[in-house]
Amino acid sequence: MKRRTLLVGPPGSGKGTHAKRISSRFKIPHVATGDMLRAEVAAATTLGLAVRDVMEGGDLVPDELVLEIVTTRLSQPDASRGWLLDGFPRTIPQALALDDRMGSRGIDLVLTLEVPRAEIVGRISGRRSCSSGHVFHVDADPPRREGFCDFDGETLFQRQDDRPEVVLSRLEVYERETEPLLGHYRTSGRLVEVDGSGPPGEVYARVEAVFLDRTDG
Ligand code: AP5
Repeated sequence: MKRRTLLVGPPGSGKGTHAKRISSRFKIPHVATGDMLRAEVAAATTLGLAVRDVMEGGDLVPDELVLEIVTTRLSQPDASRGWLLDGFPRTIPQALALDDRMGSRGIDLVLTLEVPRAEIVGRISGRRSCSSGHVFHVDADPPRREGFCDFDGETLFQRQDDRPEVVLSRLEVYERETEPLLGHYRTSGRLVEVDGSGPPGEVYARVEAVFLDRTDG
């Protein structure tokens, strides 16, 4: 079985957008650390209260907290046939810790979405989300009724960490902490680079083609 996968890319590159479709198409769980952490913040759990300020400022939460929630999630029965990680690992220490914990059941395919910075800023500034995690874009993927989620009718809002000053900081964190991961996975032959620019449907077709070619899909 070869379907233990990671989608990596800068903030706003489309990881969540394509991961949801891949998860549905290949019937593997989409494990998104950003979504999981935002749910903890929204529920005001101990973990959520501990990470809220860090997330809203665009910094990374401590490795051990994220590692714990991911390994717990990957031990659930629905993850036995594979999974798609989105947002984790995003540092070399996280990648090494995951490899260490999972051993031969670790990541076997990594797709990275490459998107020019100017396009990223436009995507993030137009993103609108509901509290259940459904995501739209005011131009590229607008909701049918402006300001409200198509799926549950909830009010759409802009994420706290999508404020322009925080976005620049998140891009810097990505370049400093996460880009080195690409070399790590390239060296071990697990990395495939995907052109993430252009309309969402075209990008998804490229992502799906890699899955069909490189996994037991
Ligand atoms: P996380 O939620 O993972 O944020 P991110 O990596 O910055 O990614 P985004 O959610 O911003 O973007 P995306 O690539 O999913 O893009 P999307 O598909 O929505 O993490 C948030 C925070 O949590 C971190 O900053 C950190 O604090 C913490 N955290 C999470 N994981 C952690 C970890 N492992 N360690 C430590 N801390 C961690 O698309 C963006 C928009 O563009 C949408 O509106 C979409 O509709 C639109 N769009 C998508 N594709 C296209 C296209 N082709 N053309 C036009 N528009 C498009």
